[in-house]
Amino acid sequence: MTTTAGNTAELLGLFPPGSRVDADGELTVGGCRLADLAAEWGTPLYVIDEAGVRAQVRRFRRALDAAWPKARMVFASKAFPSTPMYRLMADEGIGVDVAGPGELAMALAGGVAPARIVMHGNAKTTAELRRAVDAGVGLIVIDNTDDIDRLEDIGAAGQPVLIRVLPGVRPDTYDAVATGQAGSKFGLPLPAARAAIGRLRGGKLRLDGLHLHIGSQILSAEPYTRAVEAVAGLGEFSTYNLGGGLGVRYTYADVPPSPEEWAGALAAAARRCLPPGAQLLIEPGRSLVAPFGVTVYQVVSVKGDDPRFVAVDGGMADNMEVALYGQRFEATLTSRVGGGDPVELVGRHCESGDRLISGVPLREPRPGDLLAMPVTGAYCGTMANNYNGALRPPVVFVRDAQPRLVVRRETLADLMSRDVPPA
Ligand code: LLP
Repeated sequence: MTTTAGNTAELLGLFPPGSRVDADGELTVGGCRLADLAAEWGTPLYVIDEAGVRAQVRRFRRALDAAWPKARMVFASKAFPSTPMYRLMADEGIGVDVAGPGELAMALAGGVAPARIVMHGNAKTTAELRRAVDAGVGLIVIDNTDDIDRLEDIGAAGQPVLIRVLPGVRPDTYDAVATGQAGSKFGLPLPAARAAIGRLRGGKLRLDGLHLHIGSQILSAEPYTRAVEAVAGLGEFSTYNLGGGLGVRYTYADVPPSPEEWAGALAAAARRCLPPGAQLLIEPGRSLVAPFGVTVYQVVSVKGDDPRFVAVDGGMADNMEVALYGQRFEATLTSRVGGGDPVELVGRHCESGDRLISGVPLREPRPGDLLAMPVTGAYCGTMANNYNGALRPPVVFVRDAQPRLVVRRETLADLMSRDVPPA
């Protein structure tokens, strides 16, 4: 057994702030015992530390306001698109970015003011653009010249827009989520951006500025500096949206810049390269929510010694991060926290690639144990699916020791609700 007080503290450091082990040995998040939440709502279960998300939003805002005089933040809602989260962000006074009609509808239903919505997408249809314009979306980000054609066709005169520019910067992250490099499908390379700027300046849409988003799960502020430098020569604008992408600490080895360091680096680059009166926007997703989410599973089966497989009641249907990107996570049993010997933690789905964590230490895992996986607050619920008929998990917000169900578990009836019965 490798249990030490030290590594348990380190493990707890990956859970939302304030997570602790109760006197009876049970893991507690937001003042709620995970075992109690699982008893009430079943597993797999997404638990979100609401107080943690709210504190993080405020910390980012403070950091940004301290770094740059005219700054604004929106939540990249694809990281956690559901009306309770939109409501939370609206309540905290920030806007959101949406990438499609579904996210737009949920944002509006969640009470986000249309003027605070930024609309993205590299394949926005005319109908989607019309809906965004009719809803009064504050900013539409132009990804291609077809967007301009469409907005002009629908007569969106005066609509504020940004142009998404491809700065030619490849941050150090997974290939699938690097978006700033030459050859990316997103945005316009510099010469095409220059041409689009010329066209927009002579037209009826209102060009407010430029947008950049160089990728996701980025653990250094340095590529942002290069990206700002790359677009500085395109002219002077009133607004620069520098995107999101700040990485989070999934593993003990990950050391992302703090919100203060990130905002400071963006502002330093802006001071050198951009007009002093410009408005800076940022749109973080993952860094606002990932660290505050925990997935609770139940251990279903334990087999073999070398390797020792521990299979849980979820997997790639509720967490695609591992199968898609090879993202490393950590985990613990909720009633025997920390320590133990390495096992192969696998999901229940019919694919060999459905392995959640390779070599994660668990202390004497047995069927029926509950297992908690931290840092699942971003993109896990977003990309949840029904593989093998899996029912998408519920979401419980916890705050001040009070749990609150905000999304119920999908039902078998939901699963079949779109099927048209035979005539
Ligand atoms: N802005 C734009 C235009 C974006 O496309 C994204 C993320 C963000 C902001 C927020 O980036 P963040 O701060 O969350 O890194 N499915 C992947 C993540 C894809 C990110 C896509 N764009 C995953 O599961 O990790």
